[in-house]
Amino acid sequence: MRPISVIVPTYREAGSLPGLLDGLASIRADGHDLDVIIVDDNSKDGTVELVADRGEPWVRLITRISERGLSSAVIRGLEESRHDVLVVMDADGSHPTSSIPDMEQALAAGADFTLGSRYITGGSTEDGWGVLRWINSKVATLMARPFTKVLDPMSGFIGIERATWQRAAELDPIGYKIGLELIVKCRCTNVVEVPIHFSTRRHGESKLSLKVQWQYLVHIVRLARFKYPRLSSFIPFACVGASGMIVYAGLLALLDVMAGTMVDTWIRILVAVLLTMTWNFLWDRRLAFWDAGSRSIARQYAGFVVVCSIPVLVTFFVTWYYSDKIVLPLAGVIGSAIGSTLGLFFNWVVNRLVVFKRD
Ligand code: GDD
Ligand code: MN
Repeated sequence: MRPISVIVPTYREAGSLPGLLDGLASIRADGHDLDVIIVDDNSKDGTVELVADRGEPWVRLITRISERGLSSAVIRGLEESRHDVLVVMDADGSHPTSSIPDMEQALAAGADFTLGSRYITGGSTEDGWGVLRWINSKVATLMARPFTKVLDPMSGFIGIERATWQRAAELDPIGYKIGLELIVKCRCTNVVEVPIHFSTRRHGESKLSLKVQWQYLVHIVRLARFKYPRLSSFIPFACVGASGMIVYAGLLALLDVMAGTMVDTWIRILVAVLLTMTWNFLWDRRLAFWDAGSRSIARQYAGFVVVCSIPVLVTFFVTWYYSDKIVLPLAGVIGSAIGSTLGLFFNWVVNRLVVFKRD
């Protein structure tokens, strides 16, 4: 077995660390070379004293003062590691140290990524997971599906070789799912799952907060933008277009009520068209063209207006044409349906390639 660096992120895990370090010590006692990097976020729960008292020269403790977060702690550990085989695991005893040699073997046999898996044949989860945590985990797993086919992409028990980790493109260490992040950003194709029994922690408490779950959603969006940049632009663009139709009909109804008798119909339609176009611009800019270059917002807006001028004119005239036949909002629905459909692909392509061109 090649020498391994084990990275353990911790936050208030002084109760669990002795068990973990004992487990790792017994692997060393079997003759395997292994060192440990604990990346602790200033827990102030006796972690420092505990590591010092044990006096194990193969255990290194890094205390981060100003930073917090599981993924960034893991990345720090990876950066500080020395060996070519890297394993990341939880401190709370959920991940069996006895699986580490299997993970090294999987890498040696050609995997570019390996993870301790609850869901592969032979793996299991200790009873006592509440329904909520279970559903939560299932939904999160499902959301990772477009990025990797592995059965347990949520796992935080991961193995990777230094060379693979270093080819990672722009790591975004947000939230909990550093494993998923590495699989996607290092473009790992041969991921081998090693079955583990996932134990429930005996000490301390989980740090899986609502904030962490929100971060997971943000993380999924970022991964989608990384792996499927065109689709992640087009889908929001189409949704913003659909929302614009609703806004447009709403504005027409509102203007009808507010200024129905005072202002000419064509002016009301024009106002609604222009406001809706601006609505679409603002959301498209954020959601569909997030990676636009440094061009100023005024120039982007001007470009956007030019690009969508034909569908906008169609929307305007169709609405106007129907405005004396049916109620105005309905005329607007027909007008914007035709206009939006006309513009959908053309507008998206030209906006993406010209108006919101990347630097
Ligand atoms: N340094 C640092 N900073 N460590 C942290 C932080 C942090 O902000 N938050 C959590 N940790 C450490 C914990 O101390 C523990 O060692 C490990 O990260 C996992 O945290 P838990 O709070 O035990 O997470 P969990 O049990 O809810 O989640 C586990 O299961 C998930 C799959 O269901 C972890 O293995 C996750 O990685 C995994 O995705
Ligand atoms: Mn845990």
